[in-house]
Amino acid sequence: QDRYAVLGNPIGHSKSPLIHGLFARQTGQAMDYEAVLAPEDGFADTVRDLVARGYRGFNVTVPFKRQAFDLADTLAPRARRAGAVNTLMVEGGRLAGDNTDGAGLVTDLTRNLDQDLAGRRVLLLGAGGAARGVLQPLLQAGVGALHIANRTAARARDLAADFADLGAVTGGGLEDLAGGQYDLVINATAAGLGDQVPPLPDDLLAPGAGCYDMMYGDTPTAFVRWGRDHGAAWTADGLGMLVEQAAESFRLWRGCRPDTAPVRAQLRPGG
Ligand code: ATR
Repeated sequence: QDRYAVLGNPIGHSKSPLIHGLFARQTGQAMDYEAVLAPEDGFADTVRDLVARGYRGFNVTVPFKRQAFDLADTLAPRARRAGAVNTLMVEGGRLAGDNTDGAGLVTDLTRNLDQDLAGRRVLLLGAGGAARGVLQPLLQAGVGALHIANRTAARARDLAADFADLGAVTGGGLEDLAGGQYDLVINATAAGLGDQVPPLPDDLLAPGAGCYDMMYGDTPTAFVRWGRDHGAAWTADGLGMLVEQAAESFRLWRGCRPDTAPVRAQLRPGG
C-alpha cells in the first residue's frame, strides 16, 4: 500500500481521510491516507520522519502551508505564486510542492456550479493567505476584472500589485466598495470563523450575481446567509472547493482524477 497523510494542527476534524478514502475506493488505487497531528514547532521533522518511513505524499493544512512552501525542494509555478503549499509529492527522496486550492475553487465554480467566469466582475474579500492562494487560477480563468477588498486596504493593494502581470486586478478597502456592483463575490476572509461577515454595502450584488464562501460548515455560513439576504441568485460554501482541491492532489499523486460528484454528495449534511 502506498501511504499518504494530511498534516495539520489541529487535524482531528479533517475530512481529507474520508475524501481520499472514497477516491481510492472509486478508482481502485491501493493506498492508505491518514490524518497526522504535527506539533506546532515540529512540522519539518514530522515530514522528514514520514518520508523516511516511505510515505509517498502529503496534504498540508492550517497552520503549515507556508512551512511546507519553505520545506519543498521544488515548487510548481502556481504554488510559488500562492506563497503556500498544500500538496507535497515525494519524488526520489525530494519533496515537490504544489498548491491545488485555487484550481479546486475554479473547478467548483465552473464545473459544479456552471459559472462562466469569462468577463465577470469578481470581488474577492480578504487579502491573507487564503486569498493569495486562489488569485492565479482565478485570473487565468479569464475573469473580466478582479477587485480585492480587505479590512486593511494596503494589504489588498499590495496583493493586487503582486498579481498585476496576470490580469486586471485592483485592491482597496472595504469602505471603498460603495457604489460598485459585482457578478461574483468570493469570501476569503477569516471573519466567518466568528460567524461574521465583513461590513458590505447592501447593493453590492449585480442582477444574477452569486456569493461563494471559501469556508464551509454543517449549517449555512455567515457569508452564505448574507448573500441570501441580499438578493444573490445563487450561493455556495467551500465544501465543493475542498473536494476539488483533494481531487487535484489525488491526480498529482496517482495520475487519475476521481469523479467528485458522489463524494460531494456524501459529504453534504444529510448526504
Ligand atoms: P488566511 O490564511 O485564512 O487568509 P490570514 O492570512 O490571517 O488568514 O488572513 C485573514 C483575512 O481575513 C485577512 O484578509 C483579514 O483582514 P486583515 O488583513 O484586515 O486582517 C480578514 N479578516 C479576519 N477577520 C475579519 C473580520 N472580522 N472582518 C473582516 N475581515 C477579517
